[in-house]
Amino acid sequence: MADCMQEWPEPIVRVQAVAESGLAAIPGCYVKPPRDRPAQQHLAAAANALREPSDDSIPVIDLGELLAAGDGRIDGLITEAVAAACRDWGFFQVVNHGVAPELMRAVREAWRGFFRLPISAKQQYANQPRTYEGYGSRVGVQKGGPLDWGDYYFLHLAPEAAKSPDKYWPTNPAICKEVSEEYGREVTRLCEVLMKVLSASLGLEEARFQEAFGGAECGACLRANYYPRCPQPDLTLGLSAHSDPGVLTVLLADEHVRGLQVRRADGEWVTVQPVRDDAFIVNVGDQIQILSNSVYKSVEHRVIVNAKEERISLALFYNPKGDVPIAPAAELVRPDRPSLYPPMTFDEYRVYIRKNGPRGKA
Ligand code: OGA
Ligand code: NI
Repeated sequence: MADCMQEWPEPIVRVQAVAESGLAAIPGCYVKPPRDRPAQQHLAAAANALREPSDDSIPVIDLGELLAAGDGRIDGLITEAVAAACRDWGFFQVVNHGVAPELMRAVREAWRGFFRLPISAKQQYANQPRTYEGYGSRVGVQKGGPLDWGDYYFLHLAPEAAKSPDKYWPTNPAICKEVSEEYGREVTRLCEVLMKVLSASLGLEEARFQEAFGGAECGACLRANYYPRCPQPDLTLGLSAHSDPGVLTVLLADEHVRGLQVRRADGEWVTVQPVRDDAFIVNVGDQIQILSNSVYKSVEHRVIVNAKEERISLALFYNPKGDVPIAPAAELVRPDRPSLYPPMTFDEYRVYIRKNGPRGKA
């Protein structure tokens, strides 16, 4: 990999440190241009996490019956609902998804415990742009580039050969590794079910997606996000607008504080309200856009922060096997809908994304 990927371009400043310093005004590197700033009414609503039904909430898919039925054919109602959600939003929520609520609570608490440690206790895990594994506070290696109002922790969970070495796993809280591994296995299993549903929703063989992305050797990464309180949430973002590079992202959002926003088809930013504490927010990544020849699009999303409350989220990225070339499925390429993307492996794609940082949809 290129030399510029070995080191960060300037010393890393933890957002937690900036937040705890008590500054009334945030440093200029976090200030976004006016067109990228969140709207005032969104900021107020996010801090008060009201769980009210609203017309613009993203669709909810109940997997209870499908999982109970075992290996049978996937019900047309589910594939229809997923197809509509992917076309209209690129996002959906899943409930009754088979991952135990206690496990979800435990992994959330483990990472909350980690981020609440003093910074000095976390520096030993400081990450590097070469692999991103560990404790990080920026994406992209552009000197003087814009920064987001969030710290994170990034780990590879699967496949076994790619799994992050022990030195990258926090030992405090002691439960972090064990609970993250179990969580990773369970959510990966959910992703495998969702892949079948997505394949079927496009009229393809159920196994088609999984095979195209590398079969049993798909990858999984965990990104735990920590968004500290911010004195000027109207000027910045916890995470700038981006689409996710992989196949699917399964997000476990904070149970108290809202922050994720999705760009709706009309261009408006909509704040996601999880229907339940144990719902997952699922979104389609760039690789599904490529494989589906853009029938399903990976949708831009971003995170807003607020002055009253910090926020934690856990994103599980389900990725293709690194060296498989991904291109539109032949069944979805027709004379009136020619192939929109040349084949590219995920390893190649990821290098490109990491050099450039989150920048809308490249
Ligand atoms: C991500 C992401 C959303 C959130 O990590 O890619 O979009 O709510 N996170 O933290
Ligand atoms: Ni994302």
